[in-house]
Amino acid sequence: MSESAADIARNEKIKQRLQFYEDLGLAPFYRDRVSPSSQSLQLHSPASLSVSGSQVMKQPPLPKSAAMPPATLSRSIAPLSSSGPSLFDAANKLSTETLLQIRDDLGECTRCKLHNARHTIVFGDGNPKAQLIFVGEGPGADEDAQGLPFVGRAGKLLTQMIEAMGLERRDVYICNVVKCRPPGNRQPEPDEVAACSPFLFRQLDSINPKVIVCLGATAFQTLLQTNRSISHYRGQWLDYRGYKMLPTYHPAYLLRNPAAKADVWKDLQKVMAELGLEIKKKAK
Ligand code: URA
Repeated sequence: MSESAADIARNEKIKQRLQFYEDLGLAPFYRDRVSPSSQSLQLHSPASLSVSGSQVMKQPPLPKSAAMPPATLSRSIAPLSSSGPSLFDAANKLSTETLLQIRDDLGECTRCKLHNARHTIVFGDGNPKAQLIFVGEGPGADEDAQGLPFVGRAGKLLTQMIEAMGLERRDVYICNVVKCRPPGNRQPEPDEVAACSPFLFRQLDSINPKVIVCLGATAFQTLLQTNRSISHYRGQWLDYRGYKMLPTYHPAYLLRNPAAKADVWKDLQKVMAELGLEIKKKAK
């Protein structure tokens, strides 16, 4: 019996998924995964998170200073500049703003030169009550065309990473430091980051997540206002204004350096532990 086009496409998808798990050193783990849909339903509840029997209660909103994680989670990192007003001044730690209000305020933005070449503003996507936020650098060509973050090749890898955690994209929130595509996918320049990042800070405060994962150096350096290299801090819990923040490699880097996927998987397991998500042990 010949395979239909749908069968071939499905088999190819499964093959890619297995390859991904193998790259992570997790080959047998997919077989006994808990159904993601049963987990994701619970994750949509803003009040409490119950995953695989373990309860993680969402705290009532506290001032971020009172909600500081234990000292071991905090590392002090030299700020980019100690003079002048902090970029963080734009962020409201006890935000009552909705993402829609922030999006409205952004409008058809012309605050920096990136607006000249963009097709679509890529504001962010996902659960407005997410406990987990991924922050990337800026939209690429696919994102600029579709208006959604991480939908190109790097985005497909990010989706696989999220699914390997037992989650779906709609469980988490995904956004970028800059909302418009830098021409030729160059890094955003400091004036562009300065113009756009206040909107990121407001998004983070509106969602008030339990964990923020910075994908790559731009997100890490922007949130911590540092010019230090991400390499010393990757995989470590850091403190971003009372939020637990963990920097890891950008998926685009992983496409060029697949061997680094195992490090990222270790980082994501830390995040899973923090969120009370079940971590499957590698079968012997
Ligand atoms: N890279 C990013 O940093 N963000 C995207 O949205 C896509 C690729």
